[in-house]
Amino acid sequence: MRLIRKIDELRVCLASERAIAFVPTMGNLHEGHLDLARQARNYGDCVVVSIFVNPLQFGPAEDFDDYPRTLDADCASLQGLADIVFAPSINEMYPVQQSVYVDPPPIANELCGAARPGHFRGMATVVLKLFNIVNPAVALFGKKDYQQLHIIRQMASQLSLPVRVIGCETVRAPDGLALSSRNQYLSGTERSEAVFLQQLLQDMRHSLLRGERDFERLQSRAVEALVGRGWRVDYVMVRNQSDLQPASQPEIVVLAAAKLGKTRLLDNVEVFLSA
Ligand code: PAF
Repeated sequence: MRLIRKIDELRVCLASERAIAFVPTMGNLHEGHLDLARQARNYGDCVVVSIFVNPLQFGPAEDFDDYPRTLDADCASLQGLADIVFAPSINEMYPVQQSVYVDPPPIANELCGAARPGHFRGMATVVLKLFNIVNPAVALFGKKDYQQLHIIRQMASQLSLPVRVIGCETVRAPDGLALSSRNQYLSGTERSEAVFLQQLLQDMRHSLLRGERDFERLQSRAVEALVGRGWRVDYVMVRNQSDLQPASQPEIVVLAAAKLGKTRLLDNVEVFLSA
């Protein structure tokens, strides 16, 4: 496995590779990322993992400075999984003030985008830039960031990018909590409470499967349940899987984002309704 920090060096190294499978990350890798790297091997001869904490996708009051940076440990955990780790500096990625951005679709202003203005613009911009640098045949993303995956799919399709975007199942702790680099911000009591988010989504899923179709009532009950236990809720929404619009199709997804203390947690559950 090679660690490369320069764009030109990466391009030379990848010039003769044709089947590149790519996993973009912000580092501080956990089993969810390693699972993506493992799955990448099924899609390409050369597995590239990028590690870059992208300043463009953090708001001014967000955790860019505190975001855990653990490059040595990340490289150690990628041994045997990745062929190349690309870990550029901020200056390498943004040598001049960035003034050209991807304008993401309107859904980028809803759900997580409502609480994090500009987040998806910064995310899509760096992902497009990384695609242009790495030139992958396939790129893999986790479904925990469901809206991110949707926006990347839209970008790849509407901009005719020559990359196949694969969404992979969320990897969870044994109690059901979705793995996330931000889970380490949780205190002991918050960590015990955090699993409630997934339990709530599973309860909503069961109500939907039993025939509940009053989505507004389901959403507001879920928000009340979270608030009653001390969570600060950004949203709990029942949406279509295909376009993330309010649910009107059999294939739906319940998406939630809420804060416990200073930690913002995201999760979702897909539901397939029978007619
Ligand atoms: O999901 C992430 O870790 C980031 O948003 C991504 C896709 C690596 C872009 O910075």
